[in-house]
Amino acid sequence: MPPPVYELLPSAEEDKTSEHSTRRTHNNRVKKVLFHVLAVAAVMFVVFQGLRSFVRSSSKFLHAPPCHGRNLSSLPSHFTLPSGAQIPSVALGVWKASPGEVGPAVETALKSGYRHIDGAWIYGNEAEVGAAIKKSGIPRDELWLTSKLWNTFHAPEDIEPALDESLAHLDTEYLDLYLVHWPIAFKRGTSNELDVELTANPYPTWAKLEELVDKGKIRNIGISNFNIARIKNLTANPLKHKPAVNQVELNYWNPQPELLQWSKENGLLLEAYSPLGSSDQVKETLRVPEVLAIAKELVITPAQVLISWHVQRGTIVLPKSVTPSRVVENLKVVALPDDLFNKLEEAATSHKPKRILNPSTGWKLDFDVFDENLPF
Ligand SMILES: NC(=O)c1ccc[n+]([C@@H]2O[C@H](COP(=O)([O-])OP(=O)(O)OC[C@H]3O[C@@H](n4cnc5c(N)ncnc54)[C@H](OP(=O)(O)O)[C@@H]3O)[C@@H](O)[C@H]2O)c1
Ligand SMILES: *[C@@H]1O[C@H](CO)[C@@H](O)[C@H](O)[C@H]1NC(C)=O
Ligand SMILES: *[C@@H]1O[C@H](CO)[C@@H](O)[C@H](O)[C@H]1NC(C)=O
Repeated sequence: MPPPVYELLPSAEEDKTSEHSTRRTHNNRVKKVLFHVLAVAAVMFVVFQGLRSFVRSSSKFLHAPPCHGRNLSSLPSHFTLPSGAQIPSVALGVWKASPGEVGPAVETALKSGYRHIDGAWIYGNEAEVGAAIKKSGIPRDELWLTSKLWNTFHAPEDIEPALDESLAHLDTEYLDLYLVHWPIAFKRGTSNELDVELTANPYPTWAKLEELVDKGKIRNIGISNFNIARIKNLTANPLKHKPAVNQVELNYWNPQPELLQWSKENGLLLEAYSPLGSSDQVKETLRVPEVLAIAKELVITPAQVLISWHVQRGTIVLPKSVTPSRVVENLKVVALPDDLFNKLEEAATSHKPKRILNPSTGWKLDFDVFDENLPF
């Protein structure tokens, strides 16, 4: 007798030729095998469905942080300037981003969705930034590039050559935004010899910048590190293009609520520099108890809490990082629920303010650059 052939279904030929008893045993075996196969298939189906819904819910988790009953909405991705231009609310800052680091950081940023780079002539890295932008292949009109006029170039005749150098390094025809980096003018060719006249009255510098807007080399002009007294002095002139933004230090330690309020009332957008407390204070900032509590509640990182807070306050935010994971992390912002936002605002504005960056003594000025009582 030939050994039984185990097949799922007995063949017609076998049916004809096999003995009755053999057929019965064979059919029982086939039934058993069929049962096992069906059982295994059913278990696999259940496991597969489970896995599928798990993967679905965890990918939802990645795109929008879970909120334990909280309904997290998104923050504005852009703000609108007086020119009508739309400026992306989060930028990559590149101060202190060293050679060899800054290019890869810009590449990572552009790949992960940043479209706004905050640079300056004085950072000394515009050529590497420009090369990284070129490498990204992103069309120029999809990018927002900011640079800043250094203190030694405030004399009207020095401005266009300084701008041209930034344009050449960035490998572009125009800037989206050009800022007067500090309300302090140094004499040409000196490192910090004060030009009293151009510091007391920045209007000639501004008028030249207006000319460069009309020439098409700059789309928007703004200021940086100007306090209210200095802004009032500048805007008391018959300006053709008013300052589009004021880039200032804003962070947990120095949240400047009065300047923020005044700027909103006067239609001047603020840009938050050193938003995480700069390299000196970042560790302390990310350990603030209120920041940690909010991060825990919303299941986001402390840096994301702070960056979100800045945008929610109505300011552009310019976090700097050359660490790829942090660059990616810093772009993921969400609106904080009102009660949590208010808790953080309250904590930030109820301690004694402490400014992190003040170059007045380093520049041997005999006044404080941030003093509302102007020295001249
Ligand atoms: N107009 C002005 O006068 C002026 C003055 C200062 C700054 N700015 C602008 O503002 C930008 C930002 O200011 P900033 O550079 O002073 O300080 P910041 O952005 O507040 O802090 C930068 C520091 O935080 C670290 N960091 C960034 N993201 C982090 C994260 N998710 N977790 C942990 N650590 C993180 C960075 O480390 P790694 O880089 O090592 O990751 C770096 O040490 C500048 O790059 C510049 O564009 C302008
Ligand atoms: C979240 O809030 C929006 C707008 O207030 C609302 O339309 C939506 O239904 C809310 N979603 C949940 C899950 O509560
Ligand atoms: C700004 O202040 C300077 C120095 O005090 C003064 O010379 C100038 O006239 C002021 N500008 C305006 C428009 O008031």
